[in-house]
Formats: sequence, C-alpha cells, structure tokens
Amino acid sequence: MLKQELNEQLTQVGPGTPMGDLLRHYWYPVAFVRELDEWPIKKVRLLAENFALWKRADGGYGIMQELCPHRRASLVYGVVEEEGLRCGYHGWLFDETGSCLDQPAEPADSTFSDRITAQAGKAEELGGMVWVYIGPDTEDNPAPELPKFDVYVDEGFKDVGHTVLPCNWLQIMENSVDPHHVEWLHGRYFKFLGEQQGFLAPPGFQKKHVKVGFDEMEWGILKRRVLEGNTEDADDWAVGHPLVFPYCMRVGGAGIEQMQIRVPIDDTHTWTLFYSSHQPPGFSDFPEQVYPVDYEFPWLDERGEHIVDYIEGQDIMAWVTQGDINDRTGEHLGKSDVGVIMLRRMFREQMALVAEGGRPTVGTTYEAHDRIGLPCEKDKFGVDYTEFAMSWLSGGSMRYSPAMDQMKKLYIEAATARGDSSWSVARADEFIAQSASEVARRKRLATGPARSGPREER
Ligand code: FES
Ligand SMILES: [Fe+2]
Repeated sequence: MLKQELNEQLTQVGPGTPMGDLLRHYWYPVAFVRELDEWPIKKVRLLAENFALWKRADGGYGIMQELCPHRRASLVYGVVEEEGLRCGYHGWLFDETGSCLDQPAEPADSTFSDRITAQAGKAEELGGMVWVYIGPDTEDNPAPELPKFDVYVDEGFKDVGHTVLPCNWLQIMENSVDPHHVEWLHGRYFKFLGEQQGFLAPPGFQKKHVKVGFDEMEWGILKRRVLEGNTEDADDWAVGHPLVFPYCMRVGGAGIEQMQIRVPIDDTHTWTLFYSSHQPPGFSDFPEQVYPVDYEFPWLDERGEHIVDYIEGQDIMAWVTQGDINDRTGEHLGKSDVGVIMLRRMFREQMALVAEGGRPTVGTTYEAHDRIGLPCEKDKFGVDYTEFAMSWLSGGSMRYSPAMDQMKKLYIEAATARGDSSWSVARADEFIAQSASEVARRKRLATGPARSGPREER
C-alpha cells in the first residue's frame, strides 16, 4: 500500500515534478519517419508538454515548444524553410536551437529578435522513428546519447503496432516486472476464453512459474523465470529479458526481437508501441523496407469493451482497468510482487539523484556508440520455435498487422532454411485457423460482432 503522496510522486510526469524531472533525462520516440515525410510538421505531446516537431530542409529534425513566443499561436501551423520553422501567424522564424532569426513586421533596425528564444530540444532518427530529447543540456548536465538498442539497428523485418492508452505509463511498466501474470492472464484466462469461444490459446503460456529472479543492471532490471518442466539451463532463466529503464521492455523469442515502448504523453495517457524486428535464425533475405510497417491496433470492441482474445489486449485490459492513475493506496503487495517493489525503489533512487542536481545512472549513456545489445531469450517457454512464432503472430497485436502474410512466409522460409521442412503455408494457415483471431473473425462473419469478454447487462 502506498501513501498518496508517494503515488503522486511516482506517477506525475509534468515539468518540475520529481518524476517529470527524472524522465526528462531520456530520449523518446514521438513520430514515425514516414509521417514527417508525408507532412513535415507534427504536433507532439510528451511529458505533459506540447511541442512542434518538424523535418528540417537539410533532412534533420527539430523540436520546439508548440506555442510561438510572439503571441502564442501554434507553430504546428508553420512553414518549413531553409533556416528553420516560420510561424504561420506573423512570420517569426526560429532555427532548431530555438533562436529567433526573423521578425518580418518589426522595424528593420530592431534587435528585438536577439532577446527571443523558443524552448527547443534535440531530435534524431533511429529505426524509422523520430526520437526527441527535451531535458537539460548544459556543460554540467549534458544531454545523453540516444541509445541505439539492437532491435532498432539490427537487420530484420520491422513491424510496429501502436495505440494510445488512457492510463498512466507506470502501471504498464510495473507489469514488466510482474512475471506471474503471464501464467494467469495469458495462460489460464486465455485458455478459459478459448474454452468458451472455441479457439486454441497459444502454447506455453499456461506453464507454472517455479522460480523468478530480478537483477538490477545498467539498463534496468533483468527478469528471469523457471517454468514448470524446464530447467535453469533454459533461455528463460539463463538469459531472461530486461525491463529497459525507465519506459521500455525488451522481449523476444523464436526470432521475434521486440521492444515494448511506453511513452508518457501526460499523467493519464501513454503511447504504447510494440516494435518488432523479425529476424529468425537461418533467414537473411529480408524484404526491402523504406519504413517499418506501422499500424494502430484496436483494444476495444464495438461495444466499448476490452478485446481480450489476444495477448496485448489482455495486458491492456489489466493496465487500463487499474484506472487512469492506479490508486496504489488501495493495493496489497505480496512476496510475489518483489519486482514491482524493486522498480519503485529504483525510481525513487534515480529521482533523488536528479533532485540533487545529478544525472540518472540507469538506462542512459553519455558515450557515442553504434549499437547496444540487450540480453534477451531466443527459446521461449520451451515451445517449438516456429510454433511459438506463429502463435505470437496470430495471438498478439501483430494479428492486426497489414504485413501478416509477409511475416508468416518469412518464418516458414526460415524454418525450411534451418532444415525444418515441416512448415508450409498450409500448415501455418491451419495452425492460425485455430487461433482466437481467426475463430473470432469467422464468428463475426457468421453472426455479427462477437462478445469478447464480460459486460454489464444493458
Ligand atoms: S504568433 Fe507567431 S509570429 Fe506572431
Ligand atoms: Fe503480459
């Protein structure tokens, strides 16, 4: 049970709050490169502040406070020029550092523009996304490097499903250090739904957790598990996967390398992304991609109820039903919540460092680099490789991907390249046909929208 004051400290992300100050020491993805190529300016809300993000004439990016310092019209409705972003209202021009370069309606000999600066951050491209840094950047407190994690830089087929959730980002992060939920929410509950609705829940998820482990590491917390029937030699324990402090989780299996990203938009909204790089062993002939595939996936049905017949939909149900900000004064943590307790302690320690004028020591780097590899299991839950990939494709948010067929083919070809010729498109289709998405789709075709979970009578 947390005191109200501590709950607020842990969940408020605005400027000047302890958590907001800590979170401003990190880079965040805020747009797809594709979007800025289609239209060069985008409104961005991050950590409870609004910004104008734009693609510069030289191909780089800029991020600046949304409202123009002149009379506060939105710079999102501005003009991209050679030297920067010009406000659409009276034409004040700003470069990417926030310096005001031109005020066309002021007298020609005026020096007024020298005294005007817009709040500006840094923006860079990585893995088909535009990332921004809006925190301190001084000699004593320099901006960190944008961490180039393996998923973003390694060769693979990139597929990104995303959605905005109406809840605080911390309840999503706490789920990342809560391994027991897997056997219940994605195991027992999924199986229960399958029994009711006539589909096969993905294999492996029902296995009981015999042992869980959490180790603090430079990038966050390494999470490990031993499942019933497996040993400590299995990847789930020997390798594990990390919560990437402060707002991501790296996870994988069967050639799917994924970063789960939770960008705090404000205290009660989180941009949630599942950034997958498909790189099954044995496969190297990746289809050409100008941009990662990106798509919004649904998590509420036509009646406004949670769609719970896929893995992320189940997680989202748990995160969102905790409330826009989980009232932790009413919770009761047990011994199995040790990961959650560790994460909160880490946040408090890192907030204290920043409050004393220092920099965070976890989840950040100030060294230039090309790639950061994170530990992540390949063999997952002791399930057959290709079967696991197929069940992830059909039982997770990727089932909504427009690239589903391409990904399916890629895993079949990879299996064949590894000498496993038992997988064909027909077998994959047959396997997927038993999954929740297919069964639900067929039912919808036959009888209209399916009931996907409990609801109140109305
Ligand atoms: S409000 Fe932007 S130039 Fe006047
Ligand atoms: Fe989950």
